Amino acid sequence: MAEVSVGIAGVGICVPDRVLTNRDLESMVDTSDEWIRERTGIRERRIAAPDQSTSDLAVVAARRALADAGVTPGEVDLIIVATVTPDMVFPSTASLVQERLGCGPVGAFDLSAGCTGFLYGLVAGAQFIAAGTYRTVLVIGAETLSKIINWEDRSTCVLFGDGAGAVVLRPAPAGWGLLAACLGSDGAGGDLLKIPAGGSRLPASALTVEKKLHYIHMNGREVFRFAVRILSEAASEVIRAAGLKQDQIDLFIPHQANIRIIKAAVKRLELPMDRVVVNVDRYGNTSSASVPLALDEAARSGRLADGDRVVMVAFGAGLSWAAAAVRWYSTASRGTPEPTG
Ligand code: UT7
Repeated sequence: MAEVSVGIAGVGICVPDRVLTNRDLESMVDTSDEWIRERTGIRERRIAAPDQSTSDLAVVAARRALADAGVTPGEVDLIIVATVTPDMVFPSTASLVQERLGCGPVGAFDLSAGCTGFLYGLVAGAQFIAAGTYRTVLVIGAETLSKIINWEDRSTCVLFGDGAGAVVLRPAPAGWGLLAACLGSDGAGGDLLKIPAGGSRLPASALTVEKKLHYIHMNGREVFRFAVRILSEAASEVIRAAGLKQDQIDLFIPHQANIRIIKAAVKRLELPMDRVVVNVDRYGNTSSASVPLALDEAARSGRLADGDRVVMVAFGAGLSWAAAAVRWYSTASRGTPEPTG
């Protein structure tokens, strides 16, 4: 897809220390550990401290990704932060991160594509490198969803968690890095997953606060149906676009929303579960942080080897979806891999 190939040169994450277990939730709402595990696969999630904001997690994840890539903040040309929980409506969280990382006066912007945000950011950032405009782009998916959850609503509060993941994008040798990507959205499904108030349609007022309209509202069943279909369709599309066959996929990294969604999509794709990264049990749904959290875990645990074909797929509010196929190369060989068939 690109004139210059674009690789993931470094990955880093940050999750808050506080663990909220299903048992903890049992004392907060009418739910049970058994229901949550069976319906979602989630056992626990991380929750930010009251004074911890999205940029706090984003900055730590970014520092770790830069260190992993061997890149200094001064070398970063552009920062993209995908989030639905920015520190403030404006300025952008990306600008706050830019200042705290000590980057130069480089471009920085936030991107809103729900849980799909990180992959949108990855694809957007890659274009600047592919076009030869920039050499080093930092893409971060960061969320403190605990701040926009109605902790009295059992149908949503058990699902989400906080965290951040970052990648450093850099030019890669031809045939390595990003092989293909696809983006999509269907605004007809916008009502299925949203925060109704606090924007220009329904500005914040005492009434909107009283009605709890500043929290996540979701039609879980409809989103579930959409998710299973779109995960498999988007993955198939990007696998085709990359000129690959299903059985050439070494690692599948789906958005971590619900183990049942992942298993249903993986079954449609006829992929074995041992090629699928799953960490929803430990983090819940961290929205735009979910894919980089899983990517980092796969890289650190040795599940990624040079030349592995990795497919990442996400879906979320919008409704939106995205998929990316990447040919991985490790830190050891970064910059000097020999392209092979
Ligand atoms: O990143 C994208 C964001 N969102 C998603 O990916 C979410 C997609 N949807 C889902 O993951 C699932 O639809 C949920 C996990 C949200 C719900 O699972 P479900 O199997 O679709 O359950 P349901 O909504 O059909 O509800 C079944 C029952 C209901 O009770 P009744 O009406 O059958 O008596 C709910 O009230 O489960 C009840 N319920 C709960 N019970 C215990 C809903 N939430 C809970 C809960 N604990 N936390």
